[in-house]
Amino acid sequence: RDTHPTKTVKDYIRTIVDFPHEGIMFRDVTTLFADPRGFRMAIDQMLHPYAGMRIDKVVGLEARGFILGGAIAHQLTVGFVPIRKKGKLPGAVISEEYTLEYGEAVVEIHDDAIRPGETILLVDDLLATGGTAEAGIKLIERLGGEIVGCSFIIDLPELGGRKRLEKMGMDVRALCD
Ligand code: PRP
Ligand code: ADE
Repeated sequence: RDTHPTKTVKDYIRTIVDFPHEGIMFRDVTTLFADPRGFRMAIDQMLHPYAGMRIDKVVGLEARGFILGGAIAHQLTVGFVPIRKKGKLPGAVISEEYTLEYGEAVVEIHDDAIRPGETILLVDDLLATGGTAEAGIKLIERLGGEIVGCSFIIDLPELGGRKRLEKMGMDVRALCD
């Protein structure tokens, strides 16, 4: 009898109630990132669907997408490009406005970070309304990038993000709902 059942990615994710506002069930991936088995499992599982495909660059969405995107880019031996909140990137940028589950924001990318025709894997920790990812997709496509996939650890299906991105023609993957 197995007294140590294998943990899944979901088992490492912690939920914080009423953060950052009342009524939000915050899915906290810091507990996943802090665990050596959990973190490696998440990176391996995010990469698996794209084995054998050409990926020229990994793009990560601030902030937790940087942690995942850096590890994934390193594993693929490709470059990493950050999409950041307004005013953080030092060079010339292009911008997109968006709304999210609890607020509004602007995201930016360096205007020379992607060359036309480069194939891109977009990564973030969580897909909620899809507003952040949609803004990221628009930035990448404005630079001529071809998005191979959008990869998340968590999808919150009731918020409709997956449908929104699939309507844009995206291949959407998540490790758990
Ligand atoms: C969270 C999450 C995604 C986004 C998802 O980031 O990491 O980027 O929200 O929500 P959406 O699908 O409704 O757009 P957050 O905005 O909290 O920023 P942070 O990672 O910089 O804290
Ligand atoms: N971003 C948007 N909604 C979120 C949630 N419920 N948990 C963590 N990050 C989020």
